[in-house]
Amino acid sequence: MMNFILRGFGSYAPERILTNADLEKIVDTTDEWITTRTGIKERHIAADGETTSSMAFESSKKALADAGIEPAELTHIICGTFTPDSMIPSAACRLQEKLGIKGQMCVDVQAACSGFLYALQSGRGYLCLEPESKVLVVSSETLSRRMNWEDRATCVLFGDASGAAVLTGGEITDGPRVLDVMLAADGSLGDLLTVNGGGSAYSYALGDTVGPEYFVEFQGREVFKHAVRNMTSISEAILKRNGFEKSDVDVLITHQANMRIIDAVGRRFNIPEERVFVNIEKYGNTSAASVPVALDEAVKTGFIKKGDLVLTPTFGGGFTWGAALIQF
Ligand code: ACO
Repeated sequence: MMNFILRGFGSYAPERILTNADLEKIVDTTDEWITTRTGIKERHIAADGETTSSMAFESSKKALADAGIEPAELTHIICGTFTPDSMIPSAACRLQEKLGIKGQMCVDVQAACSGFLYALQSGRGYLCLEPESKVLVVSSETLSRRMNWEDRATCVLFGDASGAAVLTGGEITDGPRVLDVMLAADGSLGDLLTVNGGGSAYSYALGDTVGPEYFVEFQGREVFKHAVRNMTSISEAILKRNGFEKSDVDVLITHQANMRIIDAVGRRFNIPEERVFVNIEKYGNTSAASVPVALDEAVKTGFIKKGDLVLTPTFGGGFTWGAALIQF
């Protein structure tokens, strides 16, 4: 049985911070509304010239250094994102160029907020085909460029960031092991959370101005309901498939979409608050980047300890959802 080892982690968020107080000056909102409904206090916003691939470059450099792996040793670059620098080339190809390497397989995986787990599972697949692979799994999102900054219901929720990990085969003693990943989707609910503009269903002509469809739009209450339900059910399924009980989970790291969603999932697993990793107050919802950023911080701060079983459920547009079990 092959081991899937996470050799190193890295994360990055832009320097510029936008607080709830700053947002009070942009839209009709309050720190109190945002904090009580979401748990978010501030988010990072990309500077002019910063892009999804440039943030991915920063987090990837850290993950590679943490893993002790040179960029040239990589065989695959898989980037989970729905905000690539451009339609063509992919963010993964842009990242490869920034890393100063050539020849690797490079691809973007688009599964909205579940993008990191979809990318991770793809990486595990490539490793099965080519066991000597060294796979850079990275998620990066520049959501600030897909925000309608006049819509208080959406623009207060999101932020920009990137997280990365290096996945290889190896021995059990070599590092944290990805024991399993489960993924799912329900395209019939796709219209509940969209970024339609730029897609082929919309035609644009030179000179057109962008409309609301260019930005993130969603029905919050529906998203909330499905997020809690599906993150819970897939977490139960992955534990069962691997012979674990809910009580075996040492650390829960859910997609950081909303504090109330995180709390609701934690309660369904009877996981004490102090074993649920939360950083949403600093970053907001960073979509596909949220899980790898949280993993990096939880590892580097000692929140995750050797021997811990870590469960990471995610949920996002599509709808897509998933869960990974990682044995540290
Ligand atoms: N500040 C002040 N008031 C606001 C704001 C704001 N930023 N945003 C909305 N409101 C108002 C609305 O206009 C509405 O006012 P009204 O009653 O006068 O019409 C009122 O607050 C309630 O609005 P709702 O949208 O019904 O608020 P809700 O309680 O559902 O909370 C939230 C909204 C936080 C988005 C919630 O639905 C939620 O957590 N959803 C799930 C998370 C989510 O959707 N994330 C998006 C990405 S998906 C993902 O990452 C999985």
